[in-house]
Amino acid sequence: MTPDPAFWGDAPTSRAPGRIYTDEAVYREELQRFFYRGHWCYVGLECEIAEPGQFKRSVVGERSVIMVRDKDGAIHVVENRCAHRGVAFCRERHGSAKSFVCPYHQWTYKLDGSLLGLAFRHGVKRDGEVQGGMPPDFRLADHGLTKLKVARRGGAVFASFDPEVEPFEDYVGPEILHYFDRVFHGRPLRLLGYHRQRIPANWKLMQENIKDPYHPGLLHTWFVTFGLWRADQQAQMVMDARHRHAAMVSRRAEAAAPSEVTQGVTSFRASMKLNDERLLDVVPEPWWKGPTVVMTTLFPSLIVQQQVNSLSTRHIQPVAPGVFDFVWTHFGYADDDEAMTRRRLRQANLFGPAGFVSADDGEVIEFVQQAYAANGDARTISEQDGSGVQATPHMVTETLIRGMYRYWREVMGL
Ligand code: FES
Ligand SMILES: [Fe+2]
Repeated sequence: MTPDPAFWGDAPTSRAPGRIYTDEAVYREELQRFFYRGHWCYVGLECEIAEPGQFKRSVVGERSVIMVRDKDGAIHVVENRCAHRGVAFCRERHGSAKSFVCPYHQWTYKLDGSLLGLAFRHGVKRDGEVQGGMPPDFRLADHGLTKLKVARRGGAVFASFDPEVEPFEDYVGPEILHYFDRVFHGRPLRLLGYHRQRIPANWKLMQENIKDPYHPGLLHTWFVTFGLWRADQQAQMVMDARHRHAAMVSRRAEAAAPSEVTQGVTSFRASMKLNDERLLDVVPEPWWKGPTVVMTTLFPSLIVQQQVNSLSTRHIQPVAPGVFDFVWTHFGYADDDEAMTRRRLRQANLFGPAGFVSADDGEVIEFVQQAYAANGDARTISEQDGSGVQATPHMVTETLIRGMYRYWREVMGL
């Protein structure tokens, strides 16, 4: 795509034209510039493929990939596209294999993606004659699966199609790496389960949602009423130097009594009571080191959630300009006791497609998409707390969203 300088127009970065969520050419270009070049994308957790031979099917952008552990324990990420004539041969979400065999013509690959062999390479003998066969200069070594670069840190696995991509740690930057390492601090992880949903909205709307610290205290009845996230909480908004990643860091107020910030908030329900109080059975963990909530966005593909005892990765998987799949992987630590594992699972009820909290987010961003699909000239106004981009010691701000679009415009040339 040749960037059209008129696309954004004269308006500031805080006022995005609605067509950034709907334009097919922009979407295609985003895949190239953010998902396939110069960025690291999340593919999974090491604990999902704990044993040699185990694999998980995942995606980078729209491209299907396989994250697999070989017999020596190394983790490879290879594209799920047969080098012969393109079959996305891996159909299982998870499994175990000694090699990958494409069903169409049985090209066979090692777990690291190298081509091991193929049917009729030397033709078929009939009546003393050889029929067919690949050309004599065909070399197996030239025709493996596409191998992605892999980065592993603290049990999380990232991949990139770009052989020139900067090291993962530089990509994330020290400010955000600090919060990434807080969750992925080296204790082996335990997989607790998945939520999957397809959201009829543009993928960036989910990034915006988790760069928007003041909506939870307004939109989410559950948070407002039970005091897990309110606008008067102590908080910090952190970004990397390029403003593409962010962390919303907050500490829950000890006394969650109604206050000024719940007065007039239509989602506050004073009379709402929990049937099962154990949903609020929060047990502080030493590794929190203060904050009770840290929501981290790693642009473009990942959200790392720590909401009290509930931990998950949320994988953003674009499908079309107005559609993305959202895959939640809930996890804990392998040395958690049974009570902690149950607690993490109970608190996971807040999240996922039908979560007490997250159902609201899926719904509102769908409504955003509908409005801008109908009118792409209309613009957003992300000007809470001004129009600058800077780390901010409170929640009442849209600075992280402005930061993301400043970066987006730089990379897209728009
Ligand atoms: S397409 Fe895979 S073996 Fe032919
Ligand atoms: Fe939300």
